[in-house]
Amino acid sequence: MPLITHPVRAYFSHWAKAGNRHGVHSPFVYHLIAEVLRVPTKASEFAAVEKLRHKLRRRKDCINVTDLGAGSRHLRGDRRRIGSIASSALKPRRQAEQLARIANHFKPATIVELGTSLGITTLYLAQAAPNARIHTVEGCPATAQVALNNFHLLQADNITLHTGPFQDQLPRVLAALDRLDMAYIDGHHAKEPTLQYFNQCLAKAHNDTVFIFDDIHWSQGMEEAWALIKVHAQVTVTIDLFHFGIVFLRREQAKQHFRLRY
Ligand SMILES: C[S@@+](CC[C@H](N)C(=O)[O-])C[C@H]1O[C@@H](n2cnc3c(N)ncnc32)[C@H](O)[C@@H]1O
Repeated sequence: MPLITHPVRAYFSHWAKAGNRHGVHSPFVYHLIAEVLRVPTKASEFAAVEKLRHKLRRRKDCINVTDLGAGSRHLRGDRRRIGSIASSALKPRRQAEQLARIANHFKPATIVELGTSLGITTLYLAQAAPNARIHTVEGCPATAQVALNNFHLLQADNITLHTGPFQDQLPRVLAALDRLDMAYIDGHHAKEPTLQYFNQCLAKAHNDTVFIFDDIHWSQGMEEAWALIKVHAQVTVTIDLFHFGIVFLRREQAKQHFRLRY
């Protein structure tokens, strides 16, 4: 194992190169930064979800995990404590809040999430976009069952959970949709699968669809996937926040890539 891992190197490089909203001339991106990405969320807004996260972190019971993705850098073995998963595999509060603000801002009617885990980001999306139908996909049956219980607990009835590999479930989910307004891809962080899921989603995307990719700097393969997504013919604006890569297809925008510190 190298002393400095890929994400650590990428993090320093991001901070050295990233700018802030003052260098941004696109009104669309400037507005997004000023009104959505930077604006703090009131702690009370997602208090119920955070209370649930807190409870999950304290759980000592174990589940048998089926790992279908690129694995975890923190957890080893098939049998894992729910508390360990909650402490290491989920988006931290501030990033989940930012994801929720994006969903709330664009008011998507249909959201696809790849990578449910225990359902924390799904619950953020469900609360931030109450009129949306959220299709979330989780490959590990035992993890999916915990997520399902969490959705019932918080009475999130705008979520549909699909259990199975993304490779099988995503084409099925997309086939049943007229259009896709938002996609959040947080699982199977490897180059080819990420590009494959992006291309599949594009078939149901439209001018105002927003894509959010997690962990774009997780590995060399993810760096390569992100670089290819940026140059894709249908992609116009991208925003690299380090923890998220946001992608827009808006034809009215000039092709431009932003790297920001928020
Ligand atoms: C990082 S976790 C998702 C965290 C969640 N979005 C959150 O922050 O609350 C990624 C999840 O994707 C699932 N996953 C990874 N690769 C998969 C694949 N190819 N098919 C189905 N599920 C997969 C894993 O089982 C894991 O639970």
